[in-house]
Amino acid sequence: LQVPKSRNQTSGLGMGELEIDKHVQYVLAVEKKKDDFESLVMEHLRMNGAYWGLTTLDILQKLGSVDQDAVVSWVMSCQHDCGGFSGNVGHDPHVLFTLSAVQILALFDRLDVLDIDKVSSCIAGLQNEDGSFSGDIWGEIDTRFSYCAICCLAILHRLDRINVEKAVNYIVSCKNLDGGFGCTPGGESHAGQIFCCVGALAITGSLHHVDKDLLGWWLCERQVKAGGLNGRPEKLPDVCYSWWVLSSLTIIDRVHWIDKDKLAKFILDCQDKENGGISDRPDDAVDVFHTYFGVAGLSLLEYPGLKAIDPAYALPVDVVNKIFFGR
Ligand code: FPP
Repeated sequence: LQVPKSRNQTSGLGMGELEIDKHVQYVLAVEKKKDDFESLVMEHLRMNGAYWGLTTLDILQKLGSVDQDAVVSWVMSCQHDCGGFSGNVGHDPHVLFTLSAVQILALFDRLDVLDIDKVSSCIAGLQNEDGSFSGDIWGEIDTRFSYCAICCLAILHRLDRINVEKAVNYIVSCKNLDGGFGCTPGGESHAGQIFCCVGALAITGSLHHVDKDLLGWWLCERQVKAGGLNGRPEKLPDVCYSWWVLSSLTIIDRVHWIDKDKLAKFILDCQDKENGGISDRPDDAVDVFHTYFGVAGLSLLEYPGLKAIDPAYALPVDVVNKIFFGR
């Protein structure tokens, strides 16, 4: 394995370089664009897009290039009377966007602008009798929403507002015989859901519910010959699984079960080296979502020059340290 021990080195891994400056320019340009195809189809989930883009910039150590006050004021303009946040101004609130909003404020160390009791009451109100979480008032239940609620409340230091034991029991009820997790009890194991369940169990100190060897086996089987990872058996590799699979493997301490060099090469091969951005697979069109997951995946692989990212909170480690240790 050639992944360097030190993050201070600036050279690549001998397999192509990460085009840091081009990716920074790409993300900054996406943020400004309002009327191209990508912006229009993402209009309703702009809060997620902002979280992906801004976290990418922070991992690349370039968050300072953004007008912080303008972003914070736009984020707050997406808050509703109930305390939750929507994907854009004039849309409906949802726990997915509430987490993104809180993560963005955490990135800028501006959680002080929040009425924390109001936001946490809104999230606590989404917990159901069986411990599961709905995403919004319309009631869809999914372990993604358990993760969003738990991660958000932990960042706000308000996990005591929910029944954590029931929340954990619900997640455990979504565990399958293959060691993975699905979106509801009996749902097929899927790497995205596994990230949500393992992340939520890590945050609540409940990782003893995970069979690490069994799950580690299922997760490392996601690496295909080309080096990339897929999300389920027989699916194509996709850069987004460099995050969903790798973060889960990191949390359960089984990253050494995959070929890290080959994965790093796969991600680097998905870069648009001319205009910046990362795509799902080599030669496809780039987007901000895959740019985030590629850069975050390389951070987990300890690629030089990148900030370390926390695999459970999906925020840079220094941001998480600030939240929990004030430094
Ligand atoms: C794959 O989706 C991903 C998931 C199911 C997990 C989504 C998790 C969240 C939105 C929680 C917040 C995440 C972070 C990082 C803070 P897909 O629809 O692309 O799956 P497919 O590849 O099977 O189509």
